[in-house]
Amino acid sequence: MKSVLETVMNPSGVWLNGAVSQMFQLMAVVCLACVVLKAIQLYWRRQKLLKIFKSFPGPPTHWLYGHLQMLQQEDELYNTASWAQKYPHCHPVWLGSFLVFLWINHPEYAKAVYIGSDLTSSFALCSSIGQGLLILNGPKWFQHRRLLTPGFHYDILKPYVTVMADSVRVMLDKWEQLITQDNSVELFEHVSLMTLDSIMKSAFSYQSNRQTDSDNLYIQMVNDLSLMVHLRVQTPLHHNNLIYWLSSQGRRFRKACRLVHHHMDKVIRERKEFLKDERQLEKIQRRRHLDFLDILLSAKDENGAGLSDEDLRAEVSTFMFAGHDTTASGISWLLYCLALHPEHQQRCREEITEILGDRDTMTYTTMCIKETLRLYPPVPAVARELGAPVTFVDGRTLPKGLTMCLYYSLQVFDPLRFSPENSAGRHSYAFLPFAAGPRNCIGQQFAMNEMKVALALTLLRFELSPDPAKPPIKIPQAALRSKNGIHLHLKKLQ
Ligand code: HEM
Repeated sequence: MKSVLETVMNPSGVWLNGAVSQMFQLMAVVCLACVVLKAIQLYWRRQKLLKIFKSFPGPPTHWLYGHLQMLQQEDELYNTASWAQKYPHCHPVWLGSFLVFLWINHPEYAKAVYIGSDLTSSFALCSSIGQGLLILNGPKWFQHRRLLTPGFHYDILKPYVTVMADSVRVMLDKWEQLITQDNSVELFEHVSLMTLDSIMKSAFSYQSNRQTDSDNLYIQMVNDLSLMVHLRVQTPLHHNNLIYWLSSQGRRFRKACRLVHHHMDKVIRERKEFLKDERQLEKIQRRRHLDFLDILLSAKDENGAGLSDEDLRAEVSTFMFAGHDTTASGISWLLYCLALHPEHQQRCREEITEILGDRDTMTYTTMCIKETLRLYPPVPAVARELGAPVTFVDGRTLPKGLTMCLYYSLQVFDPLRFSPENSAGRHSYAFLPFAAGPRNCIGQQFAMNEMKVALALTLLRFELSPDPAKPPIKIPQAALRSKNGIHLHLKKLQ
């Protein structure tokens, strides 16, 4: 039997049906209003952007996709190089209808952007990895940069060279096992594991057999995260947090982040416990070199403030992400360039052999590294947001917005481009593989050291030649990679 209340509220069920349908109608109207409002907002945004970029001519664009179709993987570098020829200063690049970058091709424009416009990070999409140096902005970035800079001092980096050399030797031993008469070896994956190994040892003395363990979950997660960040950047729909976190890719990303964070938290907790007694630091120094984590834990500003646990975790993770793929890319392309040019390979080998004697500089090798970084920049594009309006040399201006700089490269490998006499008259913003200005790469000396160590040990053990059947296909991911890997023939030197 119906209660009095039920009878009053809903004598025949008709009222309830009516109320439900009214509610649905109301919701539909609200949703429609939101969609219309959003559409109007986007329309105005597009009109505003079109107005701002009116004085910056650029390649023809599709009203919906913008230039996205021309930025697909393999075509991206080809198209951007041809755009650079047609628009030698700068030009807009549209990612869809509502997002536009100013693509910079000229050193004077790069200079204006790097030093004159208070750049802030546009890496919000990777921020779940941790709010480290790469992502931070404002006073917090400044505080971290000041605390971390001493950790990258030349003298601090010196002992890492031994760590790097150990990692490189493990990789070369593996290559020796892989050499066969006819088959080339795919190097990129090995080099990636090696740089991850060396950065993890340098960052927090992580010890495990990671280059030879095929089922190391932690390493796999770190590798996956780099790939997933790139996939997200490439998928405009996934730029929206809600959509991304609900997608299977977003859930996988979160799971990998949780695992990596959990591991880092454990390492930091244990190290903090260990370092409670200040004398332990001296003891460690006697036993082994200080790693980044030791340095970060003891870093204090003038008020005696250090980094919180969360900050520490973010910084160590940032070093791993910013440092391993980029350096792997640099080393792999360097080996490829020298395989293509046996005359330069031989000159480097001779220089390295002399270093084992009494020589102490790697001038020619450094020139080959720079030339590789120019032709195959590991970070082919840098995207940063203008924190303040910028005025270029020709008087054109841009308000706060997004900017992207791409390194325009010539196609001939010629290390002598970087000899002192040939470098003398060059614009200081013409070659910027590690960016420039206050937000330049903090790890550049670390990376240069690692490239030299890897090249030296490789050239002393192997002669390199290309595999003409498998030429690499450049694709810009988080770092510049090759779609089909980098295949070289290795011949063991006696
Ligand atoms: C060949 C190797 C490398 C290249 C080409 C490279 C390139 C770059 C570039 C172009 C930037 C500027 C990015 C931007 O403004 O958006 C940058 C920033 C950064 N790099 Fe590197 N990098 C390399 C290796 C490393 C290594 C080994 C580490 C750490 C151990 C590292 C740590 C960082 C950090 C923390 C930043 C952010 C700096 C800041 O915003 O204050 N990088 N790198």
